[in-house]
Amino acid sequence: MKFVMADLPPRQRYKLLVSTVTPRPIAWVTTCGRNGVVNAAPYSFFNAMGDDPPLLVLGLLKDGAGANKDTATNIIETGEFVVNLVSEDDAEAMNQSCVDAPRDVSEIDYAGIETAPATRVAPPLIASAPVSFECVRRELLEIGPRQVIAVGEVLVTHIRDALVADLDRLHIDTAAMKLIGRMHGAGTYLRNSDTFTMQRPAYDPARVGRADGETR
Ligand SMILES: Cc1cc2nc3c(=O)[nH]c(=O)nc-3n(C[C@H](O)[C@H](O)[C@H](O)COP(=O)(O)O)c2cc1C
Repeated sequence: MKFVMADLPPRQRYKLLVSTVTPRPIAWVTTCGRNGVVNAAPYSFFNAMGDDPPLLVLGLLKDGAGANKDTATNIIETGEFVVNLVSEDDAEAMNQSCVDAPRDVSEIDYAGIETAPATRVAPPLIASAPVSFECVRRELLEIGPRQVIAVGEVLVTHIRDALVADLDRLHIDTAAMKLIGRMHGAGTYLRNSDTFTMQRPAYDPARVGRADGETR
C-alpha cells in the first residue's frame, strides 16, 4: 500500500512513522525551567547524529493544545539539557515521568527519580541511568507547526564505571547497560539483548563482473 503523507492528518502520519521506524532509542531528558523546576520526560524521536561536534537530536512535538512541551520550552529558554539512557531497571520510572504534569510539578519528585549534579550544565543527571550526556543547544529547528527539533552538542558523557570494559581501547559493555527501546503503539518496548553480529564486507569487484582492481 502507498500512503501519500500530505493527504493524511498528522495523527495518521505519526502512526505510520512510529509503527515502522523501530526500535527507537529513548532519551530521558532532564531540563531546568526558569522557575527552577527540574523537568524529566522521555523522547524517542531521538538519535546520535555525528561526532565532530558530537550531536544528539530530539524531536519535540507540540502538546494537544499546540504549545511547546516543557522540555522544548526549557531547552529554548536555557539552552541546556541532559540526555539519560534508559535501562530495564528504570523503565517504570521513565514511564511515570511521561505524565502530563503541570509546569510547576517536577516529574523528578512525581516519579521518585534520584538525580546527581552535572558538571557543565544546570540540569541534573538521572543517578540510576547507565549513561548520561550533558548537552548544550546548537540548533533549534522549527519545521512546521507541530514540532521543534533540538540539536544538542554533547559536552560531557558519563558512563557508569562498571560499563567501561577497557578504558584504553574505550570498549564499552553495551549489553550490560540493558537499555530498552520503543517499538510501535503507545506502550510496546524492547530489550537490547536480542543481538547478532555480521562482519562488514570488503567490496568484491567480481560480483559486478569486473576484474580485480578495476573499480571504476
Ligand atoms: C517512551 C516514550 C517516548 C516518547 N517520545 C516522545 C517524542 O519523541 N516526542 C514527543 O514530543 N513526545 C514523546 N513522548 C511523550 C512525552 O514524554 C510526554 O508528552 C511528556 O509529558 C512530555 O513532558 P514535558 O512536557 O515535561 O517535556 C514519549 C513518551 C514516552 C513514554
